[in-house]
Amino acid sequence: MTTRLNDFRKQLSQLLGEQRFLTDDRSRHHYGRDWTRFATPNPCAVALPETIAEVQAIVRKARTAGVAIVPSGGRTGLSGGAMASNGELVIALDRMNKVLEFNTIDRSLRCQAGTITKLIQTIAVDHQLIYPVDFASSGSSQIGGNIATNAGGIQVIRYGMTRDWVSGLKVVTGTGDVLDLNRGLIKNNTGFDLRHLIAGSEGTLGIIVEATLQLTKPPINPRVIVLGLPSMDAVMAVLQAFRAQIPLLAYEFFSELALNKVIEHQELQRPFAAVTPFYALLEYEHLGEATDDAIMAIVDYCMTERWVEDAVVSQNESQRRSLWRLREDISDTIARWTPYKNDIATTIAQVPGFLAQVDGIVAARYSDLEVIWYGHIGDGNLHLNILKPDSVPVADFQARCKAVSADIFSVIKAMGGSISAEHGVGLLKKDFLGYSRTIEEIAIMKGIKSVFDPDNIMNPGKIFDT
Ligand code: MLT
Ligand code: ZN
Repeated sequence: MTTRLNDFRKQLSQLLGEQRFLTDDRSRHHYGRDWTRFATPNPCAVALPETIAEVQAIVRKARTAGVAIVPSGGRTGLSGGAMASNGELVIALDRMNKVLEFNTIDRSLRCQAGTITKLIQTIAVDHQLIYPVDFASSGSSQIGGNIATNAGGIQVIRYGMTRDWVSGLKVVTGTGDVLDLNRGLIKNNTGFDLRHLIAGSEGTLGIIVEATLQLTKPPINPRVIVLGLPSMDAVMAVLQAFRAQIPLLAYEFFSELALNKVIEHQELQRPFAAVTPFYALLEYEHLGEATDDAIMAIVDYCMTERWVEDAVVSQNESQRRSLWRLREDISDTIARWTPYKNDIATTIAQVPGFLAQVDGIVAARYSDLEVIWYGHIGDGNLHLNILKPDSVPVADFQARCKAVSADIFSVIKAMGGSISAEHGVGLLKKDFLGYSRTIEEIAIMKGIKSVFDPDNIMNPGKIFDT
């Protein structure tokens, strides 16, 4: 180890004490990776600051020592954005997990970046409000990580992405300066909105240390309906039929293979007897008999058109939750097969053509593998997961799937779609960034990074190489 690195470690150890500056193998392994399993964690150490001033001091010392930093939240990311494989220092926000202020008039909540998403949701509900960005990992993801990846989730069709709910951000940049952005304001037209540059920047511009979030009224009496569908075309036809009549809180879909795996591994029941190639899960506000009549009429129409083969509606909260699990438990269930994940999107109008082309590529290339489809199809966002057979080594599987990514991403490029609708680019998709962003855009992104982070110490090698 060089003297400079040794001095750096000594300084951090003095600053944080041995409880908050971890160098043992177990901690480095635990904090050095996210939910992806395609790279080996190898950070030099893990720092657990408790204040903004400590984050600043750590960043300044890292900059002087030339040590790269990987900001780390709940590490639930799926693109390798929080992987530390090259001797970086991990700055984990776990101890900056306090809610600092709840403002009833502004309907806002200010908290430290390490606050768990679920806690924010619970506090909002205690005040008859909601924080509406929701996903299966909300019990362990941290709000700073959600903002850094602009997390989406299961209700984007109604409420949008994380960035839509962030009204203030404090960020420590690569120079150790603190930016206090937008300060909870609803209206603020004073030039570039740096807050929105930080959302989705995956830790490459700075470390989010504090956030102000907007909250809203909860939906009235939400109900879930699960439909059995004969084809992907039907998935889109049913979406149009419902959207034309009632506002939707969610419109998700999954394939029979996805349902099968979930039922087998989570001990859940099939929603109904019929086994169909695809299922759609819709959520809507139940406003009384008029809603029942409207839903009944749409389902009847869809059945007449042969888009729907069977249907079940939740009758109470526990049924609603059980039906949601059929969709929400998919990601966790299939994680044991180290899946190759594609998180792709087009505009909603393009989805049917897009699905047909991607399906063709996958059928031709992966007929020997298990392919699982699900996603937020109401947002034009599709999750395509290919399961690794136990007998195939991870590296071989990764190489095979990566080769076919280019084919799928070419379709996306031709349609002006996105190679990452919500999981972010991180490490896994950076080689393909050019399929969604132009050379000029990437050059501007790099220029912006160099302003926030002149020495390239903030999560280097994520999104793009500088
Ligand atoms: C989901 O929609 O379930 C999440 O994005 C996670 C995943 O795609 O595995
Ligand atoms: Zn998703």
